[in-house]
Amino acid sequence: MIKIAPSILSADFANLERDIKKVSSADYLHVDVMDGAFVPNITIGVPVVKSIRKCTDMFLDVHLMVEKPVRYVEAFARAGADMLSVHLEADHPTRIAEALKIMGDCGVKKAVALRPITKAEAVLPYIDQLDMVLVMTVEPGFGGQAFMEDQLETIRLVRAIIEKYNPACELEVDGGVAPRTAPLVVEAGANVLVAGSAVYGAADIPAAIAALRNVR
Ligand code: DX5
Ligand code: ZN
Repeated sequence: MIKIAPSILSADFANLERDIKKVSSADYLHVDVMDGAFVPNITIGVPVVKSIRKCTDMFLDVHLMVEKPVRYVEAFARAGADMLSVHLEADHPTRIAEALKIMGDCGVKKAVALRPITKAEAVLPYIDQLDMVLVMTVEPGFGGQAFMEDQLETIRLVRAIIEKYNPACELEVDGGVAPRTAPLVVEAGANVLVAGSAVYGAADIPAAIAALRNVR
């Protein structure tokens, strides 16, 4: 089954509760945390996740685009995240492993994220313990960018690794997912689709979510 994760990066932050309710038919709520260092943009932090947790029962899929995420995973877990994604490029492998261990101790689901430059094989040291792998199909930092077609190969390779080592692991794709690109990423092996502008820019948001979910 395909799951849809609307990204609140495309929501109106002054009306966040209203905009979260608009996507309640989706499967996950994708929360983009950016620190102005790992990526050039700054978005939201722990207090906002805590407030979001109070206004929705949706599964909070928190994408940490921050340097040295091991410093923050416990705080985001306590704030109410259901799953945390840490970027493999954001710290040394031992510290990524430490971040995953803290997630396990805190009882949140564990994911690693790959920038477009990172090879699929980079997930191998962690794959047996992961709940999800997130493959970026844009350079992280901003919503509304063009989908990178050459990332379809990375999605295929990650899907093959998942099937071999941990078939229960989910494969999320993030960046430029829209009605044209959704069938491509699903065909390549994704089962969770993040969509910011394609959902929040739609005239009928529930219909846009349903259309993305039913790509095949
Ligand atoms: C980009 C973020 C994405 C972004 C996706 O760095 O991680 O989640 O919101 O936005 P769209 O769907 O508009 O490309
Ligand atoms: Zn994201």
